[in-house]
Order: sequence, then structure tokens, then C-alpha cells
Amino acid sequence: MTFLLHVVGARPNFMKAAPVMAAGRARGLEQVLVHTGQHYDHAMSEAFFADLGLARADDNLEVGSGTHAEQTARIMLGFEPVLDRRRPAWVIVYGDVNSTVACALVAAKKGVRIAHVEAGLRSHDWTMPEEVNRVVTDRLADLLLTPSRDGDANLRVEGIPDERIRFVGNVMVDTLLQLRGRARDLGVPAAMGLEPGRYVVVTLHRPSNVDDRDTLASLIGALDDLAASLPVCFAVHPRTRRKMADFGLKPNHPSVRLLEPLGYLETVGLVDQAALVLTDSGGLQEETTVLGVPCLTARPNTERPVTITEGTNQLVPSNRSAIVAAVEATLGRPRGREPRRPEGWDGRAGERVIDALVESAGRRPG
Ligand code: UD1
Repeated sequence: MTFLLHVVGARPNFMKAAPVMAAGRARGLEQVLVHTGQHYDHAMSEAFFADLGLARADDNLEVGSGTHAEQTARIMLGFEPVLDRRRPAWVIVYGDVNSTVACALVAAKKGVRIAHVEAGLRSHDWTMPEEVNRVVTDRLADLLLTPSRDGDANLRVEGIPDERIRFVGNVMVDTLLQLRGRARDLGVPAAMGLEPGRYVVVTLHRPSNVDDRDTLASLIGALDDLAASLPVCFAVHPRTRRKMADFGLKPNHPSVRLLEPLGYLETVGLVDQAALVLTDSGGLQEETTVLGVPCLTARPNTERPVTITEGTNQLVPSNRSAIVAAVEATLGRPRGREPRRPEGWDGRAGERVIDALVESAGRRPG
């Protein structure tokens, strides 16, 4: 019988599942990988499998894009027979994407135990689809594996019993620490003609930033302004590319480079040497903290507060003048010493996930 069934679907899941699967493999556990197909472009999916050394998915549900309801429903319909066939002891879901909540819901109704990796994060912003996914997934999960202590506290406030909560640290940092050297060796900035420490990296894909024309126009205006002093590398998510086309928006300054979505190693290689990152991604808030690169997050809140209190992250409103002022202030400050790395962001979180699963294996569902 399969012991662990890992679910991945969207880009940020892949780097989280890789170290947990590697730790499971090292312990000789029977495990399978299910890809929902939520992300399907080569650059959003396959490229990551190659960079991360992830084995090909054992099952691919090939659900593709759609409204939230369509996508979530298709994942549930596709996942149910896979779960029936695989009969795992545990379903492991990662992060906060639609694939996470959809598969957790199917597993809960089938009485299959669920472990949620990256449990307990809260933005308290109910307009974010990810917040809905996080809260529901945590309510359904039997084992809640948290990346930071604020996660434990959030879950306790929601009445989750202590025995279901396990602090394991940040699995994505396992991947980052393992691959940082290889990413550096690629020499990405040099290959792009960029000087280390003299360029800005940008990613934007949240509906709150890219689905509204005025907000997106303001953000793109900010990139034009920034490009007057430093080259700007903007890795454009498919959603953002589509919205830019729909709204007829594009940067005007020649030093804004529009890039296709980057692979994992390319991203880390580029971010590692950047002067600053402007983003709305969850993962980059964490990666910049570990790499010691200043990060401006164009959002009113974050579910990852340790990146602010202990790391290099700072929230900034999604408007042109606020961003330009924040970038100038940040670049004008001398870089501090190496930032503190939050507790459990140490490269061993995947092993702790497996320890927790093996220890809990005998317990009945909560
Ligand atoms: C999803 C996650 C988000 C995560 C992000 C990382 C949810 C609710 N959101 O958002 O938390 O930060 O992934 O990328 O699960 N598209 C393609 N090719 C692809 C994938 C998407 O062209 O391979 C386009 C499609 O037009 C699609 C749109 O991007 O409609 C949005 O994709 P979707 O998976 O719904 O959400 P993301 O915005 O990627």
C-alpha cells in the first residue's frame, strides 16, 4: 500500500514537495506524486521538475485553467478515482493553491488522513483566494505542519488542538539552500549582461495587482520610473501577460526587460545577485529573506510576517509613487549584516515533515 500521496498542482508547490519526497525516499517510504495540472505551461511546470530533480508525476489530472469553481471541481473529480486506486495512508498537500484545497476536500470525505505542509499562515485578508484555501485546508487536515511559529499561534486561535499542530520549519528553504550553489554557477546575471547588485527583479501575478487596469498601469509606471536608474528584469506570469495584453499596457522604458517565467535555478541565480526584488509572490518574500536581498512586497498584508520581523521584506502599496519612494529609500540605506534566518529555516524541514508523518502514522484521524 502507498504510504504517502503527494499532491502538487501549481508552480509554488514543486519546490515544497521536492525536499519532502527526497526525505521520504531516503527513509524507504512508498510514495506517489500526483500533479493536478493546474499549471501546465512548460515554463510553469516541467521546467521545475527538471531543476528540482522531481520524478515524473505518477498521475497527472491535466485540469488546466478555468474559474475557481471550474478548476476546483475538475481537480476534485479527477482526484477521487486516483485516491481510490492508490489508497494511501496519507495525502500530503502543500501551500495554498486551488489544488491544495480541492484534494484535501476529497481526502477528508474519503476518511484519508491529510497532512498540510505550510499550515497556519494567515493574511487575514478574505479577498485573497489563497486565504480561503488556507483556512479550509487547515480545518480539514489531520496534521498541520507549520513553517513558522506564527502559524502555530494562528491555528491555536482557531481552536485546532495542539496534538494536530507540528512546527517543522520551511521546506522551501531546504530546496533553496540545496540549489543555491548550482544556481550561482549558472551565472545568470552575467549571461544577461547584468552587473551583480545593479538590477531589480520584478514578479507580479496576484489578481489584486494585475486584474485591475488602474493598479496594473500604476505598477508598470513604477517599473518605467525605476528603469531610469537600474535595469529592471520583469519575469511575466501568464496571467499578467494576458492582462497586459487585454488592457493594452506595456512598459515604455527600454531598460525594462520583459522575460518569460523563469525556471527555478534561473530565478534563484538572478534574485541572489539583485539589488532589490519587487514582488507579490509568497515564495519570493521567503527566498529573499534567506538570500539577504531586500524585498518590497506590493500588497497590503502578508501571511509571512517573519519575513518582515526577521528578514528583508517590507510591504509597499501597489502604486507608482509609493513604490518608487520605497525603492529609493531601500537602495539608499546601507545593506545590513546577514539577516537572521527564522527558526526552522535550516534545510532540514523536509526530514522533520517525514518524522512527523511516521510518528503520527499509528494515530487515528482527528
Ligand atoms: C496560482 C495560485 C497562486 C500562486 C500562483 C503561482 C490559486 C488560487 N492561485 O495562481 O496562489 O501564487 O499560482 O503561479 O491556486 N496560465 C497559463 N499557463 C499555466 C498556468 C496558468 O497560461 O501553466 C494562465 C491562465 O490564463 C490561467 C491564469 O494563468 O487562467 C491563472 O492560472 P491559475 O492556476 O488559475 O492561477 P495563478 O494566477 O497561476
